[in-house]
Amino acid sequence: MPRYLLTAALPYANGPIHIGHLAGCYLPADVFHRYLKAKGEDAILICGTDEHGVAITLQARKEGVTPQELVDKNFKVIHQAFEGLGIVFTHFSRTSREIHHREAQAFFLNLYNKGFLRENTTSQFYDPVAGTFLADRYLVGTCPHCGFDGAYGDQCEKCGTSLSPDELHSPRSVLSGSVPEKRETNNWFLPMDEMLNLPEFARYTERIARWKSNVKGQFNSWVQQGLQPRSMTRDLDWGVKVPLEGAEGKVLYVWFDAPIGYLSATKEYMELQGNPEGWRAYWESEDARLIHFIGKDNIVFHTLIFPMMLAAHGQMVLPWQVPANEFMNLEGRKLSTSRGWAVWLHEYLQDVPGREDELRYTLLCNLPETKDADFSWQDYQLRVNSELVAILGNFVNRVMVLTHKLSNGQCGELPPEDPSTAHGSLSLELASARKEIRLAMEQFRLREAMAGVIHLARLGNRYLADTEPWKLLKTDSEAASRVLRVAAELCAELCIALEPFLPFTSARLGGQLQWQISDQDREGWWNTGLGGAIGSSESRAFYLSNGHRLGEAALLFTPIEDEFIQAQVNKLSPMNDPKPENAPQLENDSKPKNDSQTEAAMKPEVSYDQFAALDLRIATILSAQSVPGADKVLEIKVSLGFEQRTVVSGIAQHFQPEALVGKQVLMLTNLAPRKIRGIVSQGMLLMAENPQGQLVLVGPTDNGILSGDRVS
Ligand code: 2FM
Ligand code: ZN
Repeated sequence: MPRYLLTAALPYANGPIHIGHLAGCYLPADVFHRYLKAKGEDAILICGTDEHGVAITLQARKEGVTPQELVDKNFKVIHQAFEGLGIVFTHFSRTSREIHHREAQAFFLNLYNKGFLRENTTSQFYDPVAGTFLADRYLVGTCPHCGFDGAYGDQCEKCGTSLSPDELHSPRSVLSGSVPEKRETNNWFLPMDEMLNLPEFARYTERIARWKSNVKGQFNSWVQQGLQPRSMTRDLDWGVKVPLEGAEGKVLYVWFDAPIGYLSATKEYMELQGNPEGWRAYWESEDARLIHFIGKDNIVFHTLIFPMMLAAHGQMVLPWQVPANEFMNLEGRKLSTSRGWAVWLHEYLQDVPGREDELRYTLLCNLPETKDADFSWQDYQLRVNSELVAILGNFVNRVMVLTHKLSNGQCGELPPEDPSTAHGSLSLELASARKEIRLAMEQFRLREAMAGVIHLARLGNRYLADTEPWKLLKTDSEAASRVLRVAAELCAELCIALEPFLPFTSARLGGQLQWQISDQDREGWWNTGLGGAIGSSESRAFYLSNGHRLGEAALLFTPIEDEFIQAQVNKLSPMNDPKPENAPQLENDSKPKNDSQTEAAMKPEVSYDQFAALDLRIATILSAQSVPGADKVLEIKVSLGFEQRTVVSGIAQHFQPEALVGKQVLMLTNLAPRKIRGIVSQGMLLMAENPQGQLVLVGPTDNGILSGDRVS
């Protein structure tokens, strides 16, 4: 029997979780894990926070805290938010734990002793003022492609091009602002070019042909480009220390240590279970199936680098599947955490307690499984109101209410199946719908599987429409009782089918039915589609028994009001045009560069007329104040010389209000007015973002320009 080891990409502990992360890998991992467990499979889901690397140190600098303080805070926020949404890991660990440091060092030494980590001297940028070597993200300079003077050493975020530090013009250190110098340093390199030929790795690559095309495509593109030895150590002080003499001041590259986190977390879990050798069954056994749930920006690490490390280590399983997802956009734009263009999970859970499954559902319906997808609040409202409320909730509610009306909630007998009746055609349609759901799950098409489950409820509604039990109640109560029993059986079936996707709803539904799913029913349904009463003449095992009494009817879902949607849209930063980002996550710690992955980051060309239509002017800030209940926006009064305006701007986290008074700022004055937090905003203030992610005022200062002057 296979043993499934599922992993979900370890999220960087540099900030909270947003919907892009959820759709990328955490929700799919949770659904698939619940599905395997429902089938009765031996499966564990491992995750934890990724607490090393430049993503952490840069953010800690930004927040003025130590890296340890930052990761301690974010570990809690992240873990709690996952739990709040019903994302249940078998074990959720942290890479700053001692066990992880120990495991990562042992792994490094294993490869080192086998000759897979080779020392090499390279010259790297060094900050003479801060007295430290500079990781790519710690260098800023001018982009050689677009001239943007805030490009990082690994990427220009303006034009999206991947860079190497040597390509930057006029490089400066983020730490001290000083001009860096080149110094020689030793690091340890993984000979990826040679490792392609490791027999274990070569055997593994045969599997990739069966994987999703986005994963296959990236893997092949990396291999075809030709692989180079890649440094697995860094001159940094935050991370897992390199366990070699003469390697003081060096740590493991975060992408070397992080995936080992899957292994150290499994070991930690097994130790806590009192079974310290238990990890071997998942990492070393022939039966083990390692499945990595990740977003597309992690593909190279999980299909190439980590498998090579595992192959070199020996005895370890290599990935069985890597069902990577593409990115989730928000309201048609790329998510941008620095611009406030994101929906944060912890905020959602706080704003609307009890609506966890509404978010799960909308995300599942829009999973970016084959291409980038979009989340919009309008779609959320539509899906909740016209699918969860109108199809699923409505079906269950009608069955509950009518059964109470007929017989105080007591179930009657199930009728014999007759293909010529509505019951017969329901059976047939259910049989094929179940098959579709199971097939979709097997092939990691979770989005279709979710839709398939809602289709079961749609079939239930059709059955009620065909049989009209509300009429039968008055004319033929026995017939009504039979119809309602069939429908109640379908409610129980829905309880099983919903469980991996919408676990809160499944539990609420079970409560209403006063029925608990047994392991046998669950396994039967997911493995064979049989076991239920409808259409499974082989077993005729009913979920509910004759005379079973249903609980109180209660609405499973309530409609989402327009006001709620408007409030959520308003919460998004009113700063327009978030800068393009290649990944939903911020700093990605020098991911290897592959231009074929880089999406065009420039906006499409505009005509001169389109440009000329914008009324850009200089404005002077007269006053700025915070808006009660909104921690991201400021209400700002500006003078355009000829008139005064009010603007609501999403810059509260970047400026003290009083520091803005008297400053000149660029303003788009003919943007359509928009109500934000109940205040009409009459234009938009334009700012730039510096390399540290802070917004700064651009343009005029003390150069004689007056309020209201045009910019063109
Ligand atoms: O991209 C990221 O968020 C990384 N922290 C993922 C790491 S996955 C694994 F390798 F640990
Ligand atoms: Zn550029």
